[in-house]
Amino acid sequence: MISKRAQLLSPSETLKITAKAKELAREGKSVISLSAGEPDFKTPPHICNAAIQAITDGFHGYTMNTGMPELREAVSAKLKRDNGLDFSPDQIVLSNGAKQSIGFSILATIDPGDEVLIPSPYWVSYPEMVKMALGIPKVIKTTFGNNYKLTATQLEEAITKKTRAIILCSPSNPTGACYTRQELKELGDVLKKYPDVIIFSDEIYEYIIFDQDHVSILNAAPELADRTVIINGFSKGFAMTGWRLGYMAGPKKIADAVAKIQSQETSAPSSISQKAGLAAYTGSMKPIEEMKKAFRERRDYLVKELNEIKGVECFKPGGAFYVFPDVHHYFGKTAPDGSTIQNSTDLALYLLESHGVAAVPGDAFGEPDGLRLSYAASMENLKEAVKRLRKGLKALG
Ligand SMILES: Cc1ncc(COP(=O)(O)O)c(C=O)c1O
Repeated sequence: MISKRAQLLSPSETLKITAKAKELAREGKSVISLSAGEPDFKTPPHICNAAIQAITDGFHGYTMNTGMPELREAVSAKLKRDNGLDFSPDQIVLSNGAKQSIGFSILATIDPGDEVLIPSPYWVSYPEMVKMALGIPKVIKTTFGNNYKLTATQLEEAITKKTRAIILCSPSNPTGACYTRQELKELGDVLKKYPDVIIFSDEIYEYIIFDQDHVSILNAAPELADRTVIINGFSKGFAMTGWRLGYMAGPKKIADAVAKIQSQETSAPSSISQKAGLAAYTGSMKPIEEMKKAFRERRDYLVKELNEIKGVECFKPGGAFYVFPDVHHYFGKTAPDGSTIQNSTDLALYLLESHGVAAVPGDAFGEPDGLRLSYAASMENLKEAVKRLRKGLKALG
């Protein structure tokens, strides 16, 4: 009864631990969740007000399937203003979130049997989206020593005749690592040699970046513009996860194919959300700066505390709201109940069930040595979480 395509897919691993944390909380246990993939801030008021106004004005019909023209223009202007990139409005397709934009961009370009390179640790949905297109995800393992960033040598070694695309994500979920211009240039130099390879560049965490300006692969290697798809959206930077608004910007041919798929699947994103998105891209960026400041303080606190715990190594990530410490020191250790911690999933379950801290195991992201901790949580909760982590890990010896 269930299609082979659906059977190929794994359910979202990140949602599993969140579900377990909620179950424990329902039973009355004190659980601090560091597993969230969304900002713990409210959408800024000027954005909410634009949506309220849209409802009051009766702006509730379908828009053009690629998004309303004013918003496509605003995205085009934003890409110029913030990123120095030239995309005309007809190269932009708005969607119900970056997730949909990545999925449809893959469906629009990947044929069965095509290989898509995905550096690990990766965002959980990338391999599954490739599988949905009947493509073959080819994971390239990166190293802790290089802050889990892909090197040009690793990329060169991974490309084969069947390689059709690569998915890059900076700032990264799950590691928070950010590529520098030089690193992207080196990757770009390799990609230039392979004109059939499409680049999907997921830049959804662009605004949450602390130590450098955001760099897109197209800034470092503009020659790749005829085969690069930028993915972005409003969820993370503007705390708008529930509004479901994102977009792709790419070569017109790919944008047209994405628009065709979208027209048959979901039409356009919500008209109300689009008005909100317009306010986000044309209004004040002050609230975004304030959120960034809070995220930076939390990052600095968490990285310092984690590195003081025996057996935990954590590099300081440049962006997003995650840290991804290496915790393999604890594999093979015995928990107080006599069970052995075999891997990051066992460790995450132990920390959740015995100490009330929810983190996502690195196994979910294709990097077994890590644990993803989200600092989209209040400082008070982070402090309590650190206390619990220290105690829980100490009990493992
Ligand atoms: C790397 C990455 N890309 C895309 C998305 C999806 O964002 P959206 O809410 O716009 O669909 C997420 C959300 O978790 C993400 O972490």
